[in-house]
Amino acid sequence: MLINTMKKINIYKKKILIRLDLNVPMKNNKITSDERIKSSLNTIKIALQNKSKIIILSHLGRPTEGKFKKKYSLLPIVKYLRKKFKKTIIHFKKNIYEEIKINYGEILIFENVRFNVGEKNNDKKLSKRYASLCDVFIMDAFGTAHRKESSTYGVGFFSKISCAGPLLMSEIKSLQKSIKNPKRPLITILGGSKISTKFNILKSLCKISDTVIVGGGIANTFLAIKNNIGNSIYEKNFIKLAKKLKKKYNIIIPIDSKVKQTNINEIKYIFKKSNTIQKNDEIMDIGKKSIKKIEKIIKKSKTIIWNGPVGVFESSEFRDGTKRIAYSISKNKKAFSIAGGGDTLAVINMFNLKNKISYISTGGGAFLEFIEKKTLPAINMLKKKYLKKINV
Ligand code: 3PG
Repeated sequence: MLINTMKKINIYKKKILIRLDLNVPMKNNKITSDERIKSSLNTIKIALQNKSKIIILSHLGRPTEGKFKKKYSLLPIVKYLRKKFKKTIIHFKKNIYEEIKINYGEILIFENVRFNVGEKNNDKKLSKRYASLCDVFIMDAFGTAHRKESSTYGVGFFSKISCAGPLLMSEIKSLQKSIKNPKRPLITILGGSKISTKFNILKSLCKISDTVIVGGGIANTFLAIKNNIGNSIYEKNFIKLAKKLKKKYNIIIPIDSKVKQTNINEIKYIFKKSNTIQKNDEIMDIGKKSIKKIEKIIKKSKTIIWNGPVGVFESSEFRDGTKRIAYSISKNKKAFSIAGGGDTLAVINMFNLKNKISYISTGGGAFLEFIEKKTLPAINMLKKKYLKKINV
């Protein structure tokens, strides 16, 4: 790929600006999963070894620009990094336009970029300000590389040198491996509640996969082509499109389901064949027969792409389908398996399967968009910058 990488650029004693994705889940201002921070530590270590003046940018959540809210502050992440890099001075600044003082081998973290007015709209003034802070801009926020924002996109055009960091490069390489000349059969498991948000990616995945297994609300929309699905979530507007896809591609939909049955005074959980769902039933997970069928497909596959749970996995009653899929993927040692997305990672962590999946992407939306479009806005920016096609 024709882009500059951190590996090739001399950053020794340089002022470097690194865009990371430190958007980790939080509860009461406490980090509940540090996976994304851990994935960025290597990049920070390389910068420290090079005695660079290191400036770090990241977003956290989706705050309103110009309005500080403690809930979205990067302070807990700064504290986390101070513990990790005990010997390193780590400054923390709120105002991006404030004058900065930093020595070689020190780190300066700016407060959540999404508090900065203009960030979301890729504002020129803000992008230029970011760029003015450094000699080299390193884009390493794969999880946010699908956003055309000032700190992920615009800054790259205005900085003297822009390059991709090691995490971004490893994500690109692993994702390309699964979509360019993959070992076959290639299967995709796509779960989640809304087909509308994943329809384009579903279409792209159908084109490259030998088999696509759908679950959750996405599967319910397919089931609704021919079946009554009771109170289950689905999207009526997408039934026609789902029907077209089903005709053209090998899409596996659940043959049975675990349903929640609500009658006047009681709630029951029972297994039902997909064509026997009734008015008061709500599909919550795939059924035992579907699990067995999917396990067989997973066992024979050589490449596996997985995004999204196939049931309401947060509740132990409806976790079995997702759990068994996760375990089958982890047991298939012959396959190259790749997983991405917040819920998918939560499942993998819940069952301690992290080391048994070939590659776990740090991206959710970025992971899916890369598979769909084979590139992302931040990657396009780095390509243009490399070829000196400078248009913001
Ligand atoms: C993510 O969590 O997927 C990334 O950090 C991107 O966040 P965003 O969807 O708020 O841009």
